[in-house]
Amino acid sequence: MKILLLGSGGREHALGWKIAQSKRVTQLFIAPGNAGTSEVGTNVDIQVNDFDAIKDFICTQKIDMVVVGPEDPLVNGIYDALKNDPRTKDTVVIGPSKEGAKLEGSKDFAKAFMQRHHIPTARYHTFTDETLNEGLRFLETLEAPYVLKADGLCAGKGVLILPTLAEAQRELKEMLGGMFGKASARVVIEEYLSGIECSVFVLTDGKHYQILPEAKDYKRIGEGDMGLNTGGMGSVSPVPFADNDWMKKVEERIIQPTIKGLSEEGVDYKGFIFFGLINVKGDPMVIEYNCRMGDPETESVMLRLKSDIVDLFEGIAEGNLDKRVVTFDERAAVCVMLVSGGYPQAYTKGYPISGLETVKDSIIFHSGTAVKDGQVVTAGGRVLAVCSYGKDKDEALNKSFAAAKKIDFQDVYFRKDIGKDL
Ligand code: AMP
Ligand code: GLY
Repeated sequence: MKILLLGSGGREHALGWKIAQSKRVTQLFIAPGNAGTSEVGTNVDIQVNDFDAIKDFICTQKIDMVVVGPEDPLVNGIYDALKNDPRTKDTVVIGPSKEGAKLEGSKDFAKAFMQRHHIPTARYHTFTDETLNEGLRFLETLEAPYVLKADGLCAGKGVLILPTLAEAQRELKEMLGGMFGKASARVVIEEYLSGIECSVFVLTDGKHYQILPEAKDYKRIGEGDMGLNTGGMGSVSPVPFADNDWMKKVEERIIQPTIKGLSEEGVDYKGFIFFGLINVKGDPMVIEYNCRMGDPETESVMLRLKSDIVDLFEGIAEGNLDKRVVTFDERAAVCVMLVSGGYPQAYTKGYPISGLETVKDSIIFHSGTAVKDGQVVTAGGRVLAVCSYGKDKDEALNKSFAAAKKIDFQDVYFRKDIGKDL
């Protein structure tokens, strides 16, 4: 089978690493990929939103399956674009339809969906420019801190958590006034939930589902979860509080009604669902849905998934995912992200990376790297995901921290407290 994987981050390197281990795969292409993905397949210089170029490539290379890494092409409708073209309609796509991707692409859609299907989530209301005054009054009925969410995709920057009513009211005006362009033409205001977060992932063929290993990610740039939000500074799997009892609640109260709801509403959904959950006094609640895997969670999750992932993808294509077997590695897996100094604000790209070949006890996935004159250089804010196995998270973390010290590029930074809160 020939597979085309779309994306260019650590998530895609980890997915590609796992896909390449499958005996069913004869060739793996990654578009556009990065310096690391070229170690597990062939990089192709096509951008993830260039649907015409993707279709042409599928035809000339006779691609059997497309695995979509990031949310952007899904929200833009890559599934529908391939299914509606006679040349590519039979290509298997791992990723939901445009309608299904609204679970991530529209916070208002996701909240209304949860409400229709009685899925536990924070109380909310959605406002537009026309209902600004009602929004300002709604904020007065809530207690601090205040949570404002731009409806559309904002590359992870669309959620504001404000400590005072005055700030929340000011930001609501800014958001509806065009702070995030069209993405904040509608704003969801919701109740603040307090607890520890956990990311749960499933694969679904639209009817059946399989639960993958869960993970916790670390979003803030600074230690002790301080400072600006990032794409994610590290991850740990398993998550201790996500024991059998808790996961049973997640499955019954959240996963099952989500899959059933999508199916009842006729939404074509064949791919990953990422449940961003929060543990509120022992009860899981949904913070957000994503229509793809998490990054940097995938880097830990792929280490712990023992099953052949292409077998699971085939289960999706054939509608018999329930007949496939998912097994987990009993060991812990962790990911420590090495980032460019300055990230998530301005940073410099193009610094040479040294020491990669000296790392023996960890698996390194590339996030933002490129090759320049035969040398691997930094090419993004998040640069390398240093991943390790251990009998427990602490052993795995010690390996990743030791490996991180052997790798060098100018102004490299990583958090040394990943996993310490668990
Ligand atoms: P989202 O993009 O919806 O995942 O939000 C980004 C981050 O904001 C989440 O990972 C949470 O840490 C935080 N967050 C979002 N919604 C809430 C909420 N209702 N209560 C508390 N924290 C929240
Ligand atoms: N790590 C969070 C995300 O991928 O959205």
